[in-house]
Formats: sequence, structure tokens, C-alpha cells
Amino acid sequence: MTKILGIETSCDETGIAIYDENQGIIAHQLYSQVELHSEYGGVVPELASRDHVRKIVPLVRGALQQAGIQPSELSAIAYTQGPGLIGALLVGATMGQSLAYAWKLPSIGVHHLEGHLLAPMLEADKPVFPFLALLVSGGHTMLVDVIGLGEYQIIGESVDDAAGEAFDKTAKIMGLAYPGGPRLAQLAEKGGDDLVRFPRPMTDRPGLDFSFSGLKTFAANQFSACDKSEQAKANIAKSFQQAVIDTLSIKCKRAIKQTGHQALVVSGGVSANLYLREKLAQLMQSIGGKVYYPRHEYCTDNGAMIAYAGYCHFKAEQPKPAKQHPIKVHPRWPLSEAFKNTE
Ligand code: KG4
Ligand code: ZN
Repeated sequence: MTKILGIETSCDETGIAIYDENQGIIAHQLYSQVELHSEYGGVVPELASRDHVRKIVPLVRGALQQAGIQPSELSAIAYTQGPGLIGALLVGATMGQSLAYAWKLPSIGVHHLEGHLLAPMLEADKPVFPFLALLVSGGHTMLVDVIGLGEYQIIGESVDDAAGEAFDKTAKIMGLAYPGGPRLAQLAEKGGDDLVRFPRPMTDRPGLDFSFSGLKTFAANQFSACDKSEQAKANIAKSFQQAVIDTLSIKCKRAIKQTGHQALVVSGGVSANLYLREKLAQLMQSIGGKVYYPRHEYCTDNGAMIAYAGYCHFKAEQPKPAKQHPIKVHPRWPLSEAFKNTE
């Protein structure tokens, strides 16, 4: 039975998992560096790489133990080859290539966003191709027309900050601890509806692109003018969240109309946001379609999505163990090239 070990180290999470063709995910290990970076208010790339080095071997061992299998039972090693922080990516790629060499297995370089895109397929109730995907993470905001495996057409994306980045930066402005996105969402729960009227950027013109940096500036101005009470902060947080999510929802509606898809897949860290889920569920219900999400622990960065994307490549490309193991990563890597660039 095909079993793929997946390694994720593109940013500040070390994720190792094993996907089994019949049983699904049989091991899932995750170490988050959140505490390490929190005193700096953001990810420090050099510290991230070093921490991946410290954690990766124990997590690989832990995954094999959790699955109760030997390396000889694995079919291939998949690792995140990009995009991401170069040093962090190199740790996972070096480990992936070295294990593949030592265990005489094929290695598969996976595109991080393809991992996010396919993550909902790990659920029992999963989408089938073709579908529309909304990828919303700390680094990316994009609408993708997913025609089939490896056929990804980006039909809209952010021209400046990603949605998660806007959440994080706004949280920082408002004095919330790192990582700010989920904390801002929590604060928003106590806020009143649309008390501060934020704009819905780029919705007054045609097209599917996004812009979120203006919302952050708008929030900063509102924050400096407010009385800094908990309620005032919660009101700004709520209105900011509503603006980001309304904007995402308006563009999803347009993209659904343009592509004619009935299924919407939402993935990436921001897909953990409950208000976003509620809004998109309403949207898809209103057109008789359906929205799909990964479960909570597969929304943010993890090894399971890399193991699963690796499995899809393994089936499609039948890679063989390589004689040479070049260690190559792509810190910038267009999603449209996700399938051509593996080695
Ligand atoms: O996909 P991910 O783990 O890492 C990247 O590849 O970027 O996404 C992390 C992003 C961060 O910006 C974080 O603030 C945001 O997802 N995020 C949220 C929530 N949970 C995580 N943003 C809004 N609401 C949430 N509940
Ligand atoms: Zn991610």
C-alpha cells in the first residue's frame, strides 16, 4: 500500500505526517515555533531555520512510531520545495532528499500552496474536480480555478498585503500579541456590528483582485482616534474583520459566476476564521452550491497536506528513486508551475 512521508518547513511550523492510500493520515506531528518568534512580533527567518533543524529528526521518528511502520514500508518522501523562507525550506528539502537517498525512495518536491489547495481532500466529504479555490494565508490571497490535478489557473490575487497579513499587521497596530490574526478574530467576537464603516476595497470595479493594505491603514487611524477601551478596540476589530470577509465573499461570488463552479474550496490559515466560514456557507447555499474546508489542524501549515499532495504526484508521475539528490528549493514559485517543477 502506498505510504508517503510529508515534510513541511516553509515558515514557522515543523510538520511531519504519513499518508496511507487506504487509511488516510496515519501519523501527524506538528511543532509550532510561535513562542520562539513572539518576543520579536514576527517570524525571524534565521531562528526559524535553526529551530527546524532541532525539531525535524525527532518529529520524523515520532511519525514513524505513531504510524507503527518501518522506513522500508514507505513509498516516497514528499517535502515542501517552495514558496517560503529559503533557510527554512532548505532544512526540509535537505532532510527529504537525505532520507530518500538513505532509504532508496523517490523524493517529491511539493508546492506549499498546492498542499493547502488539496488539504480539503483529506476529509470524508471531499470536493471533486473542477472547483473554485480561495487560498487565504499569511503570505497569499488568491482565487484559483482548479480544473484538475496540477491545472491551477489563478484568476484573482492580492496586489499588496495578503488577508492573513492584514489581520496580523492590524492586530500589531492594536497592541495584540503575535500571532495577531486569531487574537484579532477573538477580540472581534465582543465587538458591535459594522460600528466603524470600513471600505470594501476594489469591490466597486470589475475583476477578482484584492487589496488589503488600505484596511490596515484605516484601522490604524481609527485606533489612534479611539478611547482605547476594550469595547472600542473590539468594535474596530469586528468592523475590520467584516470588511476583509465581505470583500473576500463578494469576490468569491463573482468568481463563482465567472467560472460556473458549484463547489468552493477554502484553505490556508485564514480559513480557520469562523465568520468567514459562516459568510461563505451562506453564499454557497444561496446558489445551491457547497463549500469545503480542511479540518482545523489542516488549515494552518502542516505536514499532512504535503504528504497528501505528494501522494497525488506519486500516483500521477510514478517517480523512481534518483541516483543524484540535488537539494534545490524555490522561495518564489508560481502555483501554475507546481506540477512541472518537481524533481
Ligand atoms: O497558512 P498559514 O498557517 O501560513 C501561511 O502559509 O501563511 O496562515 C497563517 C495566517 C496568519 O496570517 C494568521 O494570522 C491567519 O492565518 N489566521 C487567521 C485566523 N487563524 C489564522 N486569520 C483570521 N482569523 C483566524 N481565526
Ligand atoms: Zn501556508
